[in-house]
This record gives sequence, C-alpha cells and structure tokens, in this order.
Amino acid sequence: MTDTRQPVGVFDSGVGGLTVFRAIRRRLPAEHLLYLGDNARVPYGSKSRETIIRYTEECAANLVEQGVKCLVVACNTMSAVALPTLQRRFPGIPVLGVVEPGALAACRASASGRIAVIATRSTVNGGAYAAAIRRYRPDAQVVSEACPLFVPLAEEGWFDGPLVEAIVARYLAPLFAAEPAPDCLVLGCTHYPLLSGVIRQVIGPEPAMVDSAETTAQVLAAMLAERGLLNTAGQDGSNQFLTTDDAACFAQIGARFLGTDVCRDNVSHISL
Ligand code: DGL
Repeated sequence: MTDTRQPVGVFDSGVGGLTVFRAIRRRLPAEHLLYLGDNARVPYGSKSRETIIRYTEECAANLVEQGVKCLVVACNTMSAVALPTLQRRFPGIPVLGVVEPGALAACRASASGRIAVIATRSTVNGGAYAAAIRRYRPDAQVVSEACPLFVPLAEEGWFDGPLVEAIVARYLAPLFAAEPAPDCLVLGCTHYPLLSGVIRQVIGPEPAMVDSAETTAQVLAAMLAERGLLNTAGQDGSNQFLTTDDAACFAQIGARFLGTDVCRDNVSHISL
C-alpha cells in the first residue's frame, strides 16, 4: 500500500530536469521530491536508442528502490525514447513523461496548427513530439529541428550575445522561413527554456513559445489527486537530490536551472 508521504521521484540525464522540478515544487509545495541527475553520463540526446533505454531504466530502478510513489521522467530525450519501456517495467507505480504534456501545451497555444518543435537529435529522430501533437490535433503540421549546441550553451550559462544569437538563428531560421510560418514553438528539451530570451529575439514577438514544465506539473497534480496519492500531511515537502557525478558541481550548475540555490547538504552522490 502506498504511503502518501513517500517522495515523488523526478529524474533527468543531468541538471536540466530541474526546470521541471521547479514547476512541480511550485504547484505541489507539500510533496517530498527526490531528484536524480545522471550527470556522469549526460548528454543522452546524442546517444543510441538502446543506450538511452538502458540508462533510463537504471535511473528509474534506483528511485523505485528508494521508495518513490511515482516517477516523473523530466528529460525529453528519455521520455521520447524510453517511456513505454518504463511503464511496462514498473506497472505498480505511475510513470509520467514530459513529451505528452509539452504536446498538449502546444496544441492549446497554437491557433493555426502549424507547430515547430526543437529538441535533441534523439528526440527529433524518434518523432515522439510530432506523434503526440497529432494525437491531440490530427490536422497539425509539425516541423522539427535538432539543436545540439543549445545544451552546452545553457550549461555554460551563455544566454545572450552575438555568438549565441548567431547559433540560435542558424538552427531556427529555416523553421520560420516557411510561409505561413508556425505560430507556436515547442522547447522540447529541458535546457532550452534558459535560452528563451535569445530564442524570442530570433523568432520575433508573434509565435507562442511553450515548454513542458508547467503542464507536466499540472498533469502530475491531477494524477496524484485522482489516485489519492497527494501528501496531505500539511507541512512543506523536502527537496533531496542525487547525482551520479560530483555533488558540489551539481549544486553549482543546478542553481541556474532551479532558479534558486541548491543546498549542497541536500545533494548526495550515487553510482548506478
Ligand atoms: N535532458 C535532455 C532533454 O531534455 C537534454 C540533455 C541531454 O541531451 O541529455 O532532452
């Protein structure tokens, strides 16, 4: 029997999923959250399908062993490639990904149904976003582009300047050159919201820009409520972090993604 005080497990290939963690923390202040970042093996976005599935299963199994009451796959690449595998392997606990909520957010924001998706190479190649968008909106016209340089830019904290603008324009200009242009851009990778300022500069004021974080938190809250899994203990939930690499480095870079300090004492190293 699940105890509602068990933590929600949130995981990602590294620190990027903290953008999702942050949205969950805001929406569900009473939940205990346990985050796992596989920093030793990031990036997943350029790895093979088999490797991504194996690594993702290892992360999920670790959190399940620690007694989480549900799993949030906060990484777009893991969600796009490995979600069905996880749902089969852990039938006893709910497993949510970020692709479906991101697709839902896009369909809500787009009037024309012309939607552009940017993500890692593995996410784009698997076509999971396009498939999810068409489930909500069968007439949608989806164009996608992999933007592999955006992850290192975000991790370096390079969010503006001529060099960054040129890189962003080089990836995005072709997507928006078509007539009529997409009216919605999906930031289909955990790191891209950090570049939203420069992305907005490049695509102009018109297209809507959506990411998965808020909608994932919404879907999680609804799912926990529906299954009677919300923590109703009435106190603030705790934040605990696990990393497969250096804990101090996780705390330092993680703060950029979380938007607030990551207390070093709450970060532990684990091996998978
Ligand atoms: N977290 C990944 C994603 O959202 C980006 C980093 C990586 O490639 O592992 O797709």
